[in-house]
Amino acid sequence: MAYIEIINLYKSFGERDVLRGVNLSINRGETVVIIGGSGTGKSVLMKHLVGLIRPDSGDIIVEGESIVRMSKKELLKKMKKFAYVFQGAALFDSLNVRENIAFGLRRFFNYSEDEINQIIKNSLESVGLSDIEEKMPSDLSGGMKKRVGLARAIALKPEIILYDEPTTGLDPIMSDVISKLIIKIKKDYKVTSLVITHDMKSAFTIADRIGMLYKGEIIEIGTVEEIRNTSNPIIKQFIEGSAEGPVKFL
Ligand SMILES: Nc1ncnc2c1ncn2[C@@H]1O[C@H](COP(=O)(O)OP(=O)(O)O)[C@@H](O)[C@H]1O
Ligand SMILES: [Mg+2]
Repeated sequence: MAYIEIINLYKSFGERDVLRGVNLSINRGETVVIIGGSGTGKSVLMKHLVGLIRPDSGDIIVEGESIVRMSKKELLKKMKKFAYVFQGAALFDSLNVRENIAFGLRRFFNYSEDEINQIIKNSLESVGLSDIEEKMPSDLSGGMKKRVGLARAIALKPEIILYDEPTTGLDPIMSDVISKLIIKIKKDYKVTSLVITHDMKSAFTIADRIGMLYKGEIIEIGTVEEIRNTSNPIIKQFIEGSAEGPVKFL
């Protein structure tokens, strides 16, 4: 059985049917990238995996256990395995880098202050940063903020990292730095990764498999090679970034 199984997931907000039967399995240690247009429900899908949103129907199985049917207490325990890198880095603006990273460590674990400081230092080093613990988020560039977001995730020593648009808003070089870090984190920490992006260069760089979310369903999933060579016109149009095609914008 896969590490994570998303089975026939449905979610509506009022009249808006966002997820209409999403099926997706993620194997331990692999990086699955979900692509899809703005507003298609990518973030909504990801939030289901950490219990931030509950489905209308369907199931999510993590290591053989349904997290949809879990009590809050059981869910919190399971969530220790997950780290979530939010869209836009989402650092706490009023906290310095040290406290941003320490936040989850204090919440979920019982480390001493010395241990916390060491973990913070190591995590920052893993993403190529040092001696920035006292800086405030407003002192950091966009790329540095994203890297602090990654450091905050790996500090928790998670089994799975969820990345919501980790390269959006970055210049092409910094995007590639982040993509390479996602690959490095996968190797160094042996994590399973689920990445949402519409950055196709990043998707092709980091993915073991790529799936496309369209009209509430994963319409196709395959290896980088398979998706590059897809005959599905909707996916082709997305990869090419073209206004012309089966999906009409004009
Ligand atoms: N908590 C919510 N309440 C109501 N509507 C929501 C909520 N979260 C997301 N939506 C709607 O669901 C749709 C998908 O949103 P989202 O998953 O954020 O898209 P994206 O693929 O860009 O990440 C959007 O139409 C959004 O307005
Ligand atoms: Mg989103």
